[in-house]
Amino acid sequence: MGFATDAIHVGQEPDPATGAIVAPIYQTSTYVQEELGKTKGYDYARTAHPNRRALERCLAKLEGGSSAFVFTSGMAAIDSVFRLLRPGDHLIVSSAVYGGVYRLLTQLLAHFGLEFDFVNTADPAATRAAIRPATRMIYVETPTNPTMILTDIAAIAGLAREHNATLVVDNTFLSPYCQQPLALGAHIVVHSMTKYLNGHSDCTGGAAILTRPEDAERIYFLQRSTGAGLAPMDCWLVSRGIKTLAVRMEQHNKNGMAVAQFLDAHPKVKRVLYPGLASHPQHELAARQQRGFGAMLSFDLGSLAAATQLLNHVRLCSLAESLGGVETLISHPALMTHASMPPEVREKAGITQGLVRLSVGIEDVEDLIADLDQALAHV
Ligand SMILES: Cc1ncc(COP(=O)(O)O)c(C=O)c1O
Repeated sequence: MGFATDAIHVGQEPDPATGAIVAPIYQTSTYVQEELGKTKGYDYARTAHPNRRALERCLAKLEGGSSAFVFTSGMAAIDSVFRLLRPGDHLIVSSAVYGGVYRLLTQLLAHFGLEFDFVNTADPAATRAAIRPATRMIYVETPTNPTMILTDIAAIAGLAREHNATLVVDNTFLSPYCQQPLALGAHIVVHSMTKYLNGHSDCTGGAAILTRPEDAERIYFLQRSTGAGLAPMDCWLVSRGIKTLAVRMEQHNKNGMAVAQFLDAHPKVKRVLYPGLASHPQHELAARQQRGFGAMLSFDLGSLAAATQLLNHVRLCSLAESLGGVETLISHPALMTHASMPPEVREKAGITQGLVRLSVGIEDVEDLIADLDQALAHV
């Protein structure tokens, strides 16, 4: 079946008890046993529940994995994937990853004996040079948040295989509709489902989609042992969001391109970072490895004062963290999402004081452009 059909139907079979076309929300913590040791497949909601199973089946299908596990947030999913490693193992991480990933590694996992290096994974030679005998995992975000730098997934997958390392790709910015890392050779995909998969900014969630049974066994162990699995209501919300993923992403792609072109032509904008523009240094790679250019973009206004003027004058675009919802969100990465990065690391990663990030929603694009245009007049 096609992507949109799978997104609507996999895991969403009509309820066998009542015929309800939409699966009920199983808002229960425990399940009564028919007799000692005899269950109907569920015993306790931390371990598993029908809404979680349904969502996990759908995600595995959409990403082309063999299994999926969903968590209370993207960070919880990413944390569980890092816990596949052991003390002394070495990990290579894309520089300019999401600030929360940077914080998790440098302020928490570093104390548990994990070794890691932040590397420009857009450069396969630099990635190869960073590999050590103890390297067990390469963790890539593509495009990076908020600098929109791409990593060639197939090239890094080749490197990972040569060195018996696991390649993990954070696919949050594009969703499985626009990019399928497992088909390009990655072993694991992670998501902040809070973003495009849910799409409506009404819950947080995370996912790990896997290809190897040994990873599935370990991640399921972690999910039920740490109690980080996603709750029934939130699984239901994400499942509902996924049903419209294909049509939403089509519109996101169109609006993202139109807004990027508008900003690119605006005299007050110093540069626009959007892989869909021919001026993006990796435009050709984006066209090759993605099915769409997405709706995330950043642009530089040259100074914090200019960025502040714009952010304080937008009316339709909402000044907020997060991304991937139907509504357009605007943010200042250096002071918001990436505030936990030391300033020198941020600057080196290209996250300047004048950089503004847009998550272009699916409103009428003329309204979005008019809003940005009036706000830019104040800069
Ligand atoms: C690319 C990316 N990965 C992971 C995360 C973490 O996800 P969550 O906020 O759901 O924990 C985020 C959050 O913004 C993100 O942008």
